[in-house]
Amino acid sequence: MDMAMRRAASSAVRALTASSGVNSFNRHLSSAPESKKIVGVFYKANEYASKNPNFVGCVENALGIRDWLESQGHKYIVTDDKEGANCELEKHIPDLHVLITTPFHPAYVTAERIKRAKNLQLLLTAGIGSDHIDLKAAAEAGLTVAEVTGSNVVSVAEDELMRILILVRNFLPGYHQVINGDWNVAGIAYRAYDLEGKTVGTVGAGRIGRLLLQRLKPFNCNLLYHDRLKISPELEKETGAKFEEDLDKMLAKCDIIVVNTPLTEKTWGMFNKERISKLKKGVLIVNNARGAIMDTQAVADACASGHIAGYSGDVWYPQPAPKDHPWRYMPNQAMTPHISGTTIDAQLRYAAGVKDMLDRYFKGDDFPEQHYIVRKGELASQYR
Ligand SMILES: NC(=O)c1ccc[n+]([C@@H]2O[C@H](COP(=O)([O-])OP(=O)(O)OC[C@H]3O[C@@H](n4cnc5c(N)ncnc54)[C@H](O)[C@@H]3O)[C@@H](O)[C@H]2O)c1
Repeated sequence: MDMAMRRAASSAVRALTASSGVNSFNRHLSSAPESKKIVGVFYKANEYASKNPNFVGCVENALGIRDWLESQGHKYIVTDDKEGANCELEKHIPDLHVLITTPFHPAYVTAERIKRAKNLQLLLTAGIGSDHIDLKAAAEAGLTVAEVTGSNVVSVAEDELMRILILVRNFLPGYHQVINGDWNVAGIAYRAYDLEGKTVGTVGAGRIGRLLLQRLKPFNCNLLYHDRLKISPELEKETGAKFEEDLDKMLAKCDIIVVNTPLTEKTWGMFNKERISKLKKGVLIVNNARGAIMDTQAVADACASGHIAGYSGDVWYPQPAPKDHPWRYMPNQAMTPHISGTTIDAQLRYAAGVKDMLDRYFKGDDFPEQHYIVRKGELASQYR
């Protein structure tokens, strides 16, 4: 009940400061008006916004919570304009109480922005992965950071399975041939394989990694996983996946590598030039976790040399990816914009999760434990 306590404390402080003339001695206790200013940063949908009533994840539909928030007297500002000194987000930094961001169109919440956000209390991620926030700065400022854990894990696991098949079967050149009026079976077949019998390793076997292992099971692959933690013996038995304590030993065995860890200080640049050089020649990589887990140029170079025979994923650094991002131009890639976790089903789940957390926040209640990324000055264990 820390939020309830904070609210109670803040009323006491307001009473105190009113009588003593002290303006504030703690940014969180100094002002906690009942009416909150909430800012959401989402991607803009333009002509697509009205095509589906459940398309709630965009600026125009604002998670479907505008009427609910405004009926309670809160102010809700939504924008996609997140970068540069004159952007819309910047105008609200000094007085917002809650910032809702999403990994698909990340508003980078830097230490500098946190410092200027004197009223900020809560940072909510509509989705999973809060690495666009300087978590240490948020912890030092006493902010709460929470995400909708589990909201899009099925969406991402399904997408990863699709990307594995697209790479293994060498699907994209065939698709491009059709569009370009060509017909050249050999140009595809010389490096198209079955998935069956291949060794697939996931780096990270959390919620998404485990769902992927379950989905790969019927394809009769050799499944390996590396994680800080072992999965349950039941799930190991069900999937047949084998634990690999040593990351590099596992990677050297893999025909296909899938990345499923968060972006943390430990995973930033995990796939650098040296590590990539030790992978099997012709390895396929799927990364829907975060772009910065890869050394951008090392991946582009290894794709160019053929050491990496195919790279697919939906995550880039930064986002949106600039026009000159090397991954746009490297051979054998099957990249998309950041899309896997924002299916309509996922949007409905993370919108509901955000609404639930806001509701609890207004009432001073705790969030579901697994949603906390930063709480009471501490980072969740895998981010430490
Ligand atoms: N592309 C998308 O749309 C999308 C959507 C959702 C999540 N994601 C990304 O996927 C990540 C994983 O999501 P999840 O729901 O499976 O999270 P999770 O917390 O359930 O699982 C993460 C796993 O990674 C492991 N891990 C963390 N650091 C590690 C390290 N240094 N070495 C080895 N293992 C480590 C953890 O022990 C955990 O088992 C998210 O953090 C996010 O970055 C992407």
